[in-house]
Amino acid sequence: MPKQKQLQVSAIENGTVIDHIPAASLFYVIAILGLDQIPNQTTFGANLDSHKFGKKAIIKVADKFFERDEINKISLVAPHAKLNIIRGYEVVEKRDVTIPDEVVGIVKCFNPKCVTNNEGVLTRFRVEDKEDLALKCHYCEKITSRDELQMV
Ligand code: CTP
Ligand code: ZN
Repeated sequence: MPKQKQLQVSAIENGTVIDHIPAASLFYVIAILGLDQIPNQTTFGANLDSHKFGKKAIIKVADKFFERDEINKISLVAPHAKLNIIRGYEVVEKRDVTIPDEVVGIVKCFNPKCVTNNEGVLTRFRVEDKEDLALKCHYCEKITSRDELQMV
């Protein structure tokens, strides 16, 4: 069969394509970016074949261009995500996501006794290790690591 490139999810005219999302993180990314709350036309593909990840997911949001701070929030669940900015059907920019120094209100503190788990206080962490992911709670100072990561 001739080598051909076929899109598994239709191309978009303008907007953002978030590619190379680990398959298991798709719905976290949707929740973190609030894509279930916006009126933009959004398409996604789950469990697509990927050379890098085995299985990946992709999200395409029409007419949406994310701020860096906003998009970096997904780095916790999709550290290797690639952003493609599309204008007039062309990829005009590619961006990586970077893990921020501080994480507010996305993940739960691992410590069941933490004030954030008992009094409705928004979680806040310093990222102490970006490689292995170690989040130090601003309130109880306990470390939440990648294995313990739970979304709020
Ligand atoms: N894409 C899209 N609509 C367009 C142009 C591109 O949905 N009008 C999507 C492509 O399907 C692809 C991503 O944007 O998933 C990046 O496009 P491109 O850079 O052309 O693809 P690749 O070279 O495969 O990108 P990479 O290797 O960086 O993942
Ligand atoms: Zn805590």
